[in-house]
Formats: sequence, C-alpha cells, structure tokens
Amino acid sequence: MDQAEELRTIMNQAVEQKECFSPVSGVRGDEAILRCPRVISVTSGKGGVGKTNVVVNLALAFTRLGKKVLVLDADLGLANIDVLLGLAPRYTVEHLFGREKSFSEILIEGPGGMRIMPASSGVSGLVDLNETQKLFLLDEIDLMAENIDILLIDTGAGISSNVLYFNMAAPESIVIATPEPTSMTDAYALIKVLSTRCKKKDFMMLVNFVSDEEEAKGVFKKISKVADHFLKSLSIDYLGFIPFDEKLPLAVRHQKPVLEIFPKAPSSRHFEDLARAILERPSRSVATGGIQFFWKRLFESQDDLYQERGIV
Ligand SMILES: Nc1ncnc2c1ncn2[C@@H]1O[C@H](COP(=O)(O)OP(=O)(O)OP(=O)(O)O)[C@@H](O)[C@H]1O
Ligand SMILES: [Mg+2]
Repeated sequence: MDQAEELRTIMNQAVEQKECFSPVSGVRGDEAILRCPRVISVTSGKGGVGKTNVVVNLALAFTRLGKKVLVLDADLGLANIDVLLGLAPRYTVEHLFGREKSFSEILIEGPGGMRIMPASSGVSGLVDLNETQKLFLLDEIDLMAENIDILLIDTGAGISSNVLYFNMAAPESIVIATPEPTSMTDAYALIKVLSTRCKKKDFMMLVNFVSDEEEAKGVFKKISKVADHFLKSLSIDYLGFIPFDEKLPLAVRHQKPVLEIFPKAPSSRHFEDLARAILERPSRSVATGGIQFFWKRLFESQDDLYQERGIV
C-alpha cells in the first residue's frame, strides 16, 4: 500500500468509526468527537439572493443558542460580511496569505461574540486560490477546531473554483434560491456542477424573498424535480424559507443583523427558527470528520496534491 492509499484508509476508518481525526494535531477518539465543529456552507448560483444576510443572522442566532461560531467570508476578493456588520477589520485574509498575520490575529469579533474571518476587497489574487493557499487556509482553520461549535461559510455566488472548493469542503451546504427564474436555474446549475464534478450529493435548500411557505415550497419543488430527473442519487432537503421583509434592507443600511435591531421582524423570527431547525438535524460533520472533511475530500479528489506535497 503506498502512502496516499494508507492515508485514504485511515480517513475512511475514521469515518466508519464516526471519529474525528485531525491530521494536524493527530487527535483521535471519543474526546475528539466532542470537538467536531459543524461546517456549513451557505451558497447560491445567482448573486444577491441573501447569502450574507443569512450567514450573519444565522450566526447570531446560533450564538444566542450558546454556540461558538466562526464565520468565514469566503468571497475572498470581495468582502461582504464586515461591511454588512459595519466592522473595519485591520487585517484580512490578504495578511494571512502574505504570512504577515496568523489566522487568529486576523479574526474580528461580531455581534453575539461570533468570530469572523474577514475577506479583502478588490484583491484579484484571492479570487482563485491555488492549491497551496487552499491547504494553508485549511491548516489554519483546523487549528481552531477545538474552539468552534459551528463554522459558517459565506461562499459567494456562482461556480468559480473558490465557490466549488468551499462547498466541496463543507459536509453541509445550504443552497439559497428565490422565486426569480434566473435564481432557480442558477441554483440548479450550481447543484449540477457540485454533484457531477465534485461528487457532492447532499444539499439543503432555503428559499428567500417569498411571501409564504407555499411559494417557497413551489420554488423548492421546481428545482428538486429537475434535479431528480437529470441528476442521479441526489438528496435535496427543504430547509425552510425567509419571507420578504422590508426591515431587512433597513437593517442592512444600519449595518446590523436584522435579528439584532429588529428582533420581532418576520425575517428575524425565521432566522431563529432556522437556527433551531439546523441544530435539530443530525450533524453530518461528525459522520464525516468535521473540519478534517476538507482533508478527506482533498485526498480523495486531488491526487496531484500528493505529488505537490511530496506525499507519494
Ligand atoms: N428576505 C429579504 N427581504 C428583503 N430584502 C432582502 C431579503 N434577503 C435579502 N434582502 C436584500 O437583498 C440584498 C442582497 O442580500 P445579500 O447581500 O445578503 O445577498 P448575497 O447573496 O450575499 O449577495 P452577493 O452574491 O452579492 O454576495 C440586500 O440588500 C438585502 O437587504
Ligand atoms: Mg454576499
């Protein structure tokens, strides 16, 4: 058995035993299960469908439920989250990749004590991370695993390599769609690319900008029907909806989460329900190995990486 094969076997055994295995710290066993954070990406085919607002409000709702939350602004070249929260980070991922600051040094604190990895704005070099940068980022995040219950990733929109990468790395992915036909076709296109090219088979769908559940389920059914027909062995779960809410753009203008400044607004209630619903779902992160899932997927799908890192 060569070294790459050996690594795959170790990772698969860890998955079968529902263990966490950290290639960084070498932690194994039941103790490690307790430290497996849930890793959830929030993504969309079309831009402007509400990802950043969902991430920020969900993160706040999770902190209020007692969870330690880390938010990654993975739209690395077009920072959204700090702007939405009116924060002015001194350092960003640019300093991390430039090896000027460590991961913990670039993190900023947001509402409810959530921690945020800020992206940079207008840095084209981060729009398409190379393999070394990806692995470096994962190493850094992996070191934080002990102090996180939930890692939420705002992937940015589309099917760029970064978007696919962060979705591939997250055991749980929430795809956001709206009733706009372009949003539905783009959500389907993203699911198609992730399932065919990246072998990702499980998705949750959240429908935004709707008036009620009936409209949301209509959007969900349209997308899942096409997916059932054209894509094989795929599971798309309906997660819920966020109603169109005039308080939400108002909160954006105040650079605060709607849940913080308008706690009784319809969307705020839905964000709270959504957070509870997610926590009630079984965590796929335990079964697949938490943040280490990044590694497993990388080992599975990018054999050339072994060569690059001199593993084989
Ligand atoms: N449920 C809602 N009701 C009313 N307005 C909303 C709702 N959800 C989002 N919006 C508005 O839509 C706009 C886009 O939201 P947001 O920035 O969260 O989208 P995004 O998917 O992150 O966009 P991008 O792809 O550009 O990163 C914001 O101005 C926000 O106020
Ligand atoms: Mg955004």
